Amino acid sequence: MPKLCINIDHIATVREARKTIEPDPILGAQLAIQGGADGITVHLREDRRHINDRDVLLLSQNIKNVLFTLEMAATDEMLEISSKVKPGLITLVPEKRQELTTEGGLNVIGQKKYLSDYTSKLHKNNLTVSIFINADKEQIKIAKEIGADFVEIHTGSYAENPNEKEFNIVKEAVEYARVLGLKTNAGHGLNYQNTGLIAAVKGVEQLHIGHSIISRAVIVGIKEAVREMKKLVEESKIYKEAEKISGN
Ligand code: PXP
Repeated sequence: MPKLCINIDHIATVREARKTIEPDPILGAQLAIQGGADGITVHLREDRRHINDRDVLLLSQNIKNVLFTLEMAATDEMLEISSKVKPGLITLVPEKRQELTTEGGLNVIGQKKYLSDYTSKLHKNNLTVSIFINADKEQIKIAKEIGADFVEIHTGSYAENPNEKEFNIVKEAVEYARVLGLKTNAGHGLNYQNTGLIAAVKGVEQLHIGHSIISRAVIVGIKEAVREMKKLVEESKIYKEAEKISGN
């Protein structure tokens, strides 16, 4: 059974909508672990649009018994941060400022030498390296040559068109990576409808799922959140009574 790693970026997205302190992704991570998460994943973006440096530091200090994965672009800044916080797994992702989410896998063919050197530097810091990659055999082959420990197969196309053809592309990519000796993860766009089949693919070690789980949490949590506030409003009559007594 693959490990279920919860990407909590979008807890921080809600926080950053108001630039306030809630909801705190650290608390979200603890609750996700209580719910059975096998790992917590965050993407520290260059523009810090959701997860920030404080979150990464606190998560690295507090997540001890499950896998902590840091998704990051292969930049000097991220090399420095990751060598300090030492996450359990690093997933290298492409990053564009304008994108809403990671749009495609990393093009390892186009930057083989750079990524090979970068992976070696991460390995020197005793870090385990995964590369987020499209379900493309040539890309997977180069990821192996670069020295990656894992690849994470981008499931976005399958999620958009969950048909047999797209499923088989993911399945064959996982098989190919395994034959090459790469450990294999999968993620992006997975939700309550399309995850089951991907979870059943032989050789998938970890699933990294974010948006659909955080979305579901908002919906299943809303009744309780309203109940708590309603109780406070109802209890306000106590203050009214107290005002009457004190004559204010
Ligand atoms: N895996 C990687 C490498 C990602 O960049 C993301 C998005 O941050 C995910 C998985 C999770 O994708 P989603 O939020 O669509 O579940």
